[in-house]
Amino acid sequence: MKFQEIKNNIFYCGLNDCDRRIFDELIPLEHGTSYNSYLVKGSEKTAIIDTMYPPKTKEYLKRLADNQVGKVDYIVANHGEQDHSGSIPALLEKFPNAVVLTNPKCAENVKSMLHVSDEKIRVISDGEEVSLGDKTLKFIFAPGVHWPDTMFTYIKEDNVICTCDFLGAHYTFSDVFAVESQELEKSAKRYYAEIMMPFRTMCKKYTQMIKDMKVDMILPSHGPVYTRPDFILDLYTDWTSDLPKNLVALPYVSMYESTKEMVDYLSSKLNEKGIETFKFDIVDDDLGDLAMALVDAATIVMGTSMVLAGPHPMAVNVAYLAAVLRPKAKFASLLGSYGWGGKLFDLIVQILSPLRLDLLEPVLVKGKPKSEDFEKLDVLANEIYEKHKSINLL
Ligand code: FEO
Repeated sequence: MKFQEIKNNIFYCGLNDCDRRIFDELIPLEHGTSYNSYLVKGSEKTAIIDTMYPPKTKEYLKRLADNQVGKVDYIVANHGEQDHSGSIPALLEKFPNAVVLTNPKCAENVKSMLHVSDEKIRVISDGEEVSLGDKTLKFIFAPGVHWPDTMFTYIKEDNVICTCDFLGAHYTFSDVFAVESQELEKSAKRYYAEIMMPFRTMCKKYTQMIKDMKVDMILPSHGPVYTRPDFILDLYTDWTSDLPKNLVALPYVSMYESTKEMVDYLSSKLNEKGIETFKFDIVDDDLGDLAMALVDAATIVMGTSMVLAGPHPMAVNVAYLAAVLRPKAKFASLLGSYGWGGKLFDLIVQILSPLRLDLLEPVLVKGKPKSEDFEKLDVLANEIYEKHKSINLL
């Protein structure tokens, strides 16, 4: 298929992966993904910015050949992860005169992970510019969104920026330009939640930096190109803000409906008080939906049945995921039901401890909840209400 021109001799030469259903073997993809690669033709030199996921290398090389790409001088590696750098060795074989342009950290990754030799790499510094003739590539190091080796490539004369994974979305398309929709917004949020949220502070910094640059377009390495940068930048400004929303996330696993009954009761009491809730069945629901709720939630209440003498392993898994995603939530509690005894909450509290959440009194029940247990849930609902009020969410 013919390359789509993005602007003045800047072409999209990436590929869709419509069949990919899970990323990082962790969270399902609703729309597959794209691996974006950009061909930049200057009057003197030609560069390719980011390459391809290794299983797609053959298709990628064919696409370059079909579009008569006969000369590549520079291969820009914005990031060492293999969905973007994995095809560098094959490109170097096809274009033996090409040189990889990248930062020191990414150079180490490309050498160690892809076995690219030193003489094929030119290490550039932060802010350095490389001329293609009538176009100039400027490299902006952006460590932490999301690897230490990440950088952006700004094409000066065209005022467009290639942001690598930052500001991306797992989304496929036939036209590279973003059509703003709720579906795209949801995909971008899911992507942010899973990949960028652990680095929220850095995301906030680079969102503002790109806003200040007033670029004409954002070219990420997954998902469509944004011709109206404020669409994605405004979303990131919201998601990365320090203030959570008036939302309680309630992930739970319930073996005999007792824990579910407690979750349902607490949720309805919170709703009566004007607090939004997101109930999440850990066994059946899509982890991506929970990750998105964690972008906004002020409070996390985990519900778990007891298995043997501890929390349900599926609840432990979700607690671990919540801890590594580092959401901005401020408060937490736990509820659950046991049969014969053990420690239901200790392990989950320990796993969540890096989040430094203000822990509200948990509610532990033997078997089915009784009237005094529902009273404890009323107390918990009140406490959450007061906490949300204390940070001006109500
Ligand atoms: Fe899309 Fe960090 O790779």
